[in-house]
Amino acid sequence: MNKLRVAVQKSGRLNEDSMQILKDIGIYIDNGIDQLKASAKGFPVEVFYLRNGDIPQYLKDGVVDAAIIGENVLVEKGEGINVVEKLGFSSCRVCIAVPKGDNYNGIKDLEGKRIATSYPNTVQSFLDKNNVNANLHIINGSVEIAPNIGLADAIVDIVSSGSTLFKNNLKEVETILKSEAVLAVSPVLSAEKQAILDKIRFRIQSVLKGRS
Ligand code: PRP
Ligand code: MG
Repeated sequence: MNKLRVAVQKSGRLNEDSMQILKDIGIYIDNGIDQLKASAKGFPVEVFYLRNGDIPQYLKDGVVDAAIIGENVLVEKGEGINVVEKLGFSSCRVCIAVPKGDNYNGIKDLEGKRIATSYPNTVQSFLDKNNVNANLHIINGSVEIAPNIGLADAIVDIVSSGSTLFKNNLKEVETILKSEAVLAVSPVLSAEKQAILDKIRFRIQSVLKGRS
């Protein structure tokens, strides 16, 4: 029988809660350290541990069938991928932040400015919507350092507790979107795998009901 291939974040903020929800729905995984793939016991599921940013492409290509992933990653590069369940954890927002001492009066203040981010598509469409032209600098991590080293005037990144902004002397000035962990599904899914997915969705719904 074909197993449903489910991607989860290999390491990072979603990993622990992702593994927990799988456990809660009865998908037990022998997680050998450094193993990038594991089979579930008693359920036709294989779990793949992948980098967040790679997951949308794997879903599009049908290399994995489903994924537990942050909505924000799908907004950035997940066109055509279906979100089938919101999972109620890893809430965050994608925000614009500027140095604490800056006098910020609105989005127009970003005209002609340099913005550092790991989410260029999300930022660009927000700027376009607001008729603002700015220069994007793409960085893959530690984005909040950019204003302090003179690389950018503002940043766009995810904010959860706000601690990273605080530590880097930045203040949140705009919320672009709100995000949480979701179950996302490949646009190319066989009927057989759809049936496994339906069972998983049913179990997730029961578990979430129990949590609330
Ligand atoms: C993430 C994100 C923010 C921070 C937000 O970074 O990029 O920097 O968490 O969380 P907070 O509001 O609770 O501080 P992460 O620590 O995952 O590292 P990275 O940016 O280097 O990937
Ligand atoms: Mg960060």
